[in-house]
This record gives sequence, structure tokens and C-alpha cells, in this order.
Amino acid sequence: MEDRDSLLAARPDAGRQPELWWVLSCSYRLLLAQMGQRRRGDPAWAPLPDDTGSVGRHLFVWAFLAVVPHVRDYHATIGLSDEESWDSLRALGEELALSRRLTGRAGLDATWGLPMVFTGVGFRLGRLAFEREPLHIGGAANDLLRPGESALNTHVPAGGEPLSDEACDTSFRRAVEVVEPFPERVVGFAFHSWLMDTQLAEYLPASSNIMRFQRRFSRFSERVEADWAPLEHVFHRRYDGPVVPPSLLDELPQRTTLERAIVSHLRGGGHWYSQTGWFSVAAR
Ligand SMILES: CC(C)(COP(=O)(O)OP(=O)(O)OC[C@H]1O[C@@H](n2cnc3c(N)ncnc32)[C@H](O)[C@@H]1OP(=O)(O)O)[C@@H](O)C(=O)NCCC(=O)NCCS
Repeated sequence: MEDRDSLLAARPDAGRQPELWWVLSCSYRLLLAQMGQRRRGDPAWAPLPDDTGSVGRHLFVWAFLAVVPHVRDYHATIGLSDEESWDSLRALGEELALSRRLTGRAGLDATWGLPMVFTGVGFRLGRLAFEREPLHIGGAANDLLRPGESALNTHVPAGGEPLSDEACDTSFRRAVEVVEPFPERVVGFAFHSWLMDTQLAEYLPASSNIMRFQRRFSRFSERVEADWAPLEHVFHRRYDGPVVPPSLLDELPQRTTLERAIVSHLRGGGHWYSQTGWFSVAAR
């Protein structure tokens, strides 16, 4: 509701903001042109300069909303149910809410997931979301793909629902069904995340959902330092520096095993890392 009100108050006007209007129409046309098209390279949309104000921070939201009827049609052609289609598009509201929580400002930051969602290349299927774009598959997993083969990129959307085995099994199964008609032959799932950090095993019980999810994947890539990731995903705090300051750690809640693990590891001088894992469709 809060984000809807900010959006309506930041409606672009072709007469008053001709440059922003031009960006908006280009973004809209780009989304239409790329509907259903897998892309190579970085699909991220950078935020517009700060001096474009609230209208600039909301501009891409209007582009995403304008293509809703088209992406809904596309979802129908690839066999997504109505519920799956709307579930996928909910990513916009979730990203707006997260962005507001992280920055204290309404509107969007850089976004790389939403252009994929609103061109139908990224979709949510139950507990998990997927992209037909193996962006993060680098390293060892690349060797697993032969020409014509592809992997689906996996996401774990936040939202309070546990990462249960059953829910994940259902999502992976459904993903295989959904991509079956596409020309690329999907042979596996990739997952690049702080949830794949093998150090989590030192803190979480083997029976926890996170560890059970991690054990689905193998062939972990080089790790990439990512203290920002658990701070953002668990505590909704943004910090991009090299060492998280103790004053910030002091402010973080310590109610759950994971919250305590993240903080005590950082206090001890450790870092958290993102890693990429992989498993083959046959092993799902
Ligand atoms: C992934 C996620 C759904 C797992 O939740 P889950 O199914 O409850 O996970 P587990 O069973 O492994 O939880 C183990 C412990 O960590 C805690 N925990 C898990 N996720 C937590 C979170 N986001 N915030 C605080 N504590 C969390 C659990 O409460 C439990 O601790 P407890 O036994 O003291 O209660 C959850 O962490 C989440 O929503 N994360 C944000 C999304 C995300 O990071 N996606 C990846 C982006 S790259």
C-alpha cells in the first residue's frame, strides 16, 4: 500500500519530464522486444541518477506494469498456471518493499531480476524461482554443459515460508516440466548464494532446511566474499564495506541460530561467502 501510494505520487509526465518519458518508452519497448528471450551478459538495470528524484526511482516500475498484459499472455503460452503467473509477478512488490526497507527510500535500486521476470524468462514455481539464464553458472559447472545444453538458475525468494524438502521437490519437478518445450536442453540447476556457504555447516544442524537444501548441490565454485548478503537477506541491513563494524553487529537481533551464527562468525573476524552449486536434472 505504502509503495503503491509512492508510485502513484511519482507518475512520470511526458510534458514535464520528456527525457524520463523517453527512457520509460525505451524500457517498455525493450521488455516487449525481449519477451521470452534468454540473454547473454548482465541483464541488470542500473538505477537512474539521484537527481531524477522520486519519479526516476519509480520509472522502471511503470515499464514493468505496462508490460503486465504481455507477460501474462506469454506465461499462458508457456503453460504457467494463473497462480504461477501472478506469483512470479509478485516479485515487483517484494523488491519494492525490500528496497524501501534497505534504503529508507521508496522506489527501486538497481534490479537484475525484474527485467527477467517481466520478460517471462524468470518465473516463480511454488517455493522457488528460476531463470532460463544460467548467469551464475561460471567456474566448474560450465564444464558440465555441452553445446545446446543449459541450466536453470535457482532462487530462494524470502517470505517467511520454510525451505522444506517437499516444497523444493515440487518446485524443481515443476521447473523441469515448464522448460521441457524450450529449445535449450536443460540438464541441471545452478544456485549461487550465500546460502551455499559451506561454513554454515559449522553453525546449523545437518537437519536444518538450509543444510538439507545445500546438500542437493555439488561442484561448488570458487567462493566470493559476500558479508553483505546475510546482512541484507537476514537482517535487511545494507553494508558494503570490507569489514562489518562492531557497532552495526551490536544492533542485530540474536533470536535464532542463524542470526547468532552470522554475527558471531563476523565478530570472530570471519567472512561469509557466496558459492555456486549445481545438480543435474536427473538427480533432482
Ligand atoms: C532460506 C530460508 C527460507 C530458510 O529458512 P528455514 O527453512 O527456516 O531454514 P532452516 O530450517 O535451515 O533454519 C535454521 C535456523 O536458522 C533460522 N533462520 C533461517 N532463516 C532465517 C532468517 N531469514 N532470519 C532469521 N533466522 C533464520 C531458523 O529460525 C533456525 O533457527 P532456530 O532453530 O534457532 O529457530 C530463510 O533463511 C530465508 O527466507 N532467507 C532469505 C532468502 C535468501 O536469503 N535467499 C537467497 C538469496 S541469495
